[in-house]
Amino acid sequence: MQPTPLACRDVGNGPVVLLVHGFPFHGGQWDAVVPMLARHARVIVPDLRGFGESTFSENTFGERGEGVTHSMDAHADDLAATLEGLGVREAVALVGFSMGGYASFSFWRRHRERVRALALCNTRAIADTPEVAAGRATMAARVLREGATPVVESMLPRLLAPDTLATRPDVVRSVRALMDVAPPLGIAASLRGMAARVDSTPLLGHIDVPTLVVVGEHDAISSPTEMRGIAAAIPRSRTVALARCGHMSTHESPEQLARALEEWMSKS
Ligand code: MLT
Repeated sequence: MQPTPLACRDVGNGPVVLLVHGFPFHGGQWDAVVPMLARHARVIVPDLRGFGESTFSENTFGERGEGVTHSMDAHADDLAATLEGLGVREAVALVGFSMGGYASFSFWRRHRERVRALALCNTRAIADTPEVAAGRATMAARVLREGATPVVESMLPRLLAPDTLATRPDVVRSVRALMDVAPPLGIAASLRGMAARVDSTPLLGHIDVPTLVVVGEHDAISSPTEMRGIAAAIPRSRTVALARCGHMSTHESPEQLARALEEWMSKS
């Protein structure tokens, strides 16, 4: 797959921070965080391949999208092509949320010289189990037949803390709205890509840049225990735990997340 510069927002001035969204979102996931970071940094917010404005042409997906995989390596190479296209020569502060974290591990493997500091938000280092990978394949086929709805309905209850689901309808609405617009072809291709990703655990001890690990205390997808294990394995890491937050730190705790990122950027 040919690396392709992604559609992106590019705001602010200063050291470059690259914000990589999760699945099945788009760069708009970072809307509440960007203004705070852009006070002191150049913030680049791409839409990963298959999402937002980065849907390219139909033939990116081959025959109606069946069988096409957007691997984490392909996402990483697109991110590098995006920086190249924008003329960014310096190493960047790389922030990966969930699937964006999986892509960030690939980016580290393939473009390590471009990373000055790393933030891993609500993500996992391990690969999918065979059962989870099989579930993603089934879901990919379903989404191509039925549209985004099955993915939205199955993910929404797991993305948010129970308290958020019960008491913050505005947050529930905005997370749902982000997912509702995800193109089925992009969803299916990234589901396959996530299912095929490698275990990044062996990499953790080799990450030698200042690393922030952001944990949602009620995250049902990337559990606090698992994320603290990631932090423990990375030599120069610091952990920030977000209270009353599930998986969606960008929506459930955007101010705390932005503050943590600002502090990490100022010290990196
Ligand atoms: C995400 O938020 O990117 C997804 O929950 C990742 C996943 O499905 O593993």
